[in-house]
Amino acid sequence: MCGIVGFVGEKDDALPFIFNGLKRLEYRGYDSAGIALAASSGIAIQKTRGKLAALGELLASLPSGVPCGIGHTRWATHGRPTDENAHPHTDCRGEIATVHNGIIENFQALREELMAKGHVFQSETDTEVIPHLLEEYGGAEDLEGAVRKAESRLEGAYAFLAISSRHPDRIVAVRRTSPLIIGLGEDANYLASDFSAFLAATKRAQILENGDMAVVTPRSVTITNLAGDMITRPVITVDWDIKQAERGGYAHFMLKEIMEQPDVWGDCLLGRIHEDQVVPKEIGLTPELLTRVKRIQIVAAGTAYHAGLIGKSLIERLARVPVNVDVASEFRYAHPILDKDTMVIAISQSGETADTLACLRMAREQGVFTYSITNTVGSTVARESDAVAYTLAGPEIAVASTKAYTTQILVLTLLALALAQVHGNPRPDLVRRMLQLPLLGHKVLDRMNQGIESMAQRLAKTHDVFYIGRGLDYALAMEGQLKIKEISYLHAEAYAAGELKHGTLALIEEGTPVVAIVTEREVADKTVSNILEVKARGAEVWGIVDDWLPSTLPIDHRIAVPIEEPLLAPVLAAIPLQLLAYYTAVARGHDVDQPRNLAKSVTVE
Ligand code: F6R
Repeated sequence: MCGIVGFVGEKDDALPFIFNGLKRLEYRGYDSAGIALAASSGIAIQKTRGKLAALGELLASLPSGVPCGIGHTRWATHGRPTDENAHPHTDCRGEIATVHNGIIENFQALREELMAKGHVFQSETDTEVIPHLLEEYGGAEDLEGAVRKAESRLEGAYAFLAISSRHPDRIVAVRRTSPLIIGLGEDANYLASDFSAFLAATKRAQILENGDMAVVTPRSVTITNLAGDMITRPVITVDWDIKQAERGGYAHFMLKEIMEQPDVWGDCLLGRIHEDQVVPKEIGLTPELLTRVKRIQIVAAGTAYHAGLIGKSLIERLARVPVNVDVASEFRYAHPILDKDTMVIAISQSGETADTLACLRMAREQGVFTYSITNTVGSTVARESDAVAYTLAGPEIAVASTKAYTTQILVLTLLALALAQVHGNPRPDLVRRMLQLPLLGHKVLDRMNQGIESMAQRLAKTHDVFYIGRGLDYALAMEGQLKIKEISYLHAEAYAAGELKHGTLALIEEGTPVVAIVTEREVADKTVSNILEVKARGAEVWGIVDDWLPSTLPIDHRIAVPIEEPLLAPVLAAIPLQLLAYYTAVARGHDVDQPRNLAKSVTVE
């Protein structure tokens, strides 16, 4: 939620770096954007509502050759997306500017206090209290001292950057919960909400921890806690490739990310399988730890939650270890019962989702072993878990998750098989077959496009669509309906196929589109009966089916997926569901990568 970027160099122009960095962070929010530059002559600001492109039109009016500045791309929490509410925000004298990601919970009280002292506010945001507090504490002259004092007054979860025109050689940064990373260059240093903003310039980085404050100049980084004690944070090297964060000829990041899945699956599996066995160490665990696990609790949000549902089914079937899966925002307030034999698994692409993180912390406080499955190296979820497995999908830029989802399923499958190994049910046949998935994934992609595109043209003109399936296919149906909702803005519902007749069947009428997923061979006949039920009420049925099923299935349109092993079907069957959502959104003329009202990394409750 919101992306922040900072650049402080010796001679280079900060502006192009900040604008390009914001482009990489636009997935974090895109309802307004702005940049502030600090020169001794004063702070220069441009900001506007709308996407980054709108800001791009205004940049010519900013001075060039200024080597210190900050930028912001916003996902509104407090105040509508307007020019005034766009960041950066300044103090009354225009000497200090700040950008902020997160929420200042006590902003109302601070705002009233500051207004009583004569401060005049320009926006409705919570953020604006920060530059005014800094002004109150003499921040133009002593930015570091003022940030320290201001920080002790703020409540909430946030990260912010501050600059002062009287010291245009530094950025002062604070991290309290929301992510903030320092990129280490040669004669410039960078700050950003995530690595992708500065990958083109450097791969060396320091991750700030909760409660850290940093003073960053072109050649130095000083990190302290808020009491002023020096802190050392390790320098890490990020091995993401900048090309992965670019569109590479595809019309949208989402399409690129769908298409690169088979290769990414290869990366995710690499080294994790040896002689038909999962290597526990390569997914962050040991055989001893796996043996101790008697029960699993999965917590996650959105798409990651849907991956968790597939994980539950696989772990229970393969290892016979009971698993609960809960939506993180519910679980954290549900007074859950956790015991010492339970392993809590947090699944999160970004590794920063506030609710998922809260569940993880709650589990740790109760002394429960925590394990995370995340795509983001160094993310808070990764760092605060007892053990971690990375999905290794590379940066996922499109807001709608695709490759992160399928790699989460792969890691969960590896976990299920590793648990099965130590619980006396090894499945070397399945482990071996996992290595075929990248090849099968390419096959699926080669086959897909045409049928899916014509299906999308039809769906684009409708209002409602139903997704049905049983078992793993039901979990996939849930993901299919979320994907189409979030980028096509169509109403979609997922139903356990056998559950329809308990109420929802009433909604099926002549021409209602139904997507039936049939990869679970054990229950295929049952799903076929349910398909017949909707067809008898006039539904038009698209079947995403295992190509092993006979071509006489009672469906109107058949999308056959080469599935050799039903337990490994989800990642393959996910592809047509993702493409369907993608092409439907394109046909409806929507902004696929940046759907309305959403943002990629949900760091607020
Ligand atoms: C949908 C989507 C979201 C995320 C959810 C959790 O396509 O991406 O539903 O899955 O916001 O995000 P992470 O995985 O970063 O915790």
